[in-house]
Amino acid sequence: MKKLFIVANWKMNGSKKSNEQLINYINEKIYENPNIEVIICPPFTYLTQITKLKTKSIKMGAQNISESQNGAFTGEISGSILQDMSVDYVIIGHSERRQMYNDTNAVIAQKFESAHQNNLIPILCVGESLNERKTGKTLSVVESQIKSVIESTRIELFTKSIIAYEPVWAIGTGETASPEQAEEVHSNIRSIIEEYDSNIATSIPILYGGSVNGANCKDLFKMNNINGGLIGGASLNEEEFVEIYQKAERLINE
Ligand code: PGA
Repeated sequence: MKKLFIVANWKMNGSKKSNEQLINYINEKIYENPNIEVIICPPFTYLTQITKLKTKSIKMGAQNISESQNGAFTGEISGSILQDMSVDYVIIGHSERRQMYNDTNAVIAQKFESAHQNNLIPILCVGESLNERKTGKTLSVVESQIKSVIESTRIELFTKSIIAYEPVWAIGTGETASPEQAEEVHSNIRSIIEEYDSNIATSIPILYGGSVNGANCKDLFKMNNINGGLIGGASLNEEEFVEIYQKAERLINE
C-alpha cells in the first residue's frame, strides 16, 4: 500500500481568525493514519499559532528556508529557526520563488542542504513552464532541476526528501495536468534518480501540484507514481481540503 501526502501550501494568505477556523475544521475531520501524512505550510508568522491549534495528526511545514546559517541576513529565516519552531517539512524551489525571488538551481541546492542540516524534510518542487512544455522540453527541464540538486549535494539526502512535480502552467490556473501527463513525468523522475540509487528511486514520495481539487485528486492519486498532492488554492477552503483528504483516505482503504 502506498503512503499519500496531502500538503497545504497556504502561500501568502490567512489571518489569525481564518486560520483558527480552518484548522479547527481540519482537526475535526482528520484522523491519525500511518498511510496519510497531512502537512500544513502557513506563512512563517503563523507557525506558532498553527502549532498550538493543530492536533497530532497534522504536521507543520514552512514555505521557504534561507540558504544561509544564522547571522546577518535581514528578513530571512534559517533552518535552525524552523527546527526550533517545531517545523517538520519545508517547501523548496517553488516556481513562484524560482520566478520572482531568483531562487536559482544553485540556491535551491543550498536550501536543500540547509534543510537536511536542520532535520527538516525538504519538499523539492520542479516543473516546466507552458512554453517549455509546448516545445517538448518538459522532461529535460525537470531532469536538470533534479540533477543540479543531486550533484551539488548527495544522493543519500534524497532518502529523506520529497519531490513535488508542479507544472508552472497548472499552478493557480484551474488547468490540471492530466493523470497520464503527470504520471509520465513522475515515472521519469524515478528513472532520473535510478541513475544514482535504485532504492531511493522506488521509495521517494513524488507529489503532484497544480490546481489539485476535490474533483480531480482521486484520478491523480490513483496513478502508480503519484504519492499525493501539493495543494495551493484548494487548501484555503476547509471543505475542499477535507474532501481531498477523504478521497485519499478512501483510496488507501480500497
Ligand atoms: P494551486 O497551487 O493548487 O493553487 O495550483 C499549487 C502550488 O503552487 O503549490
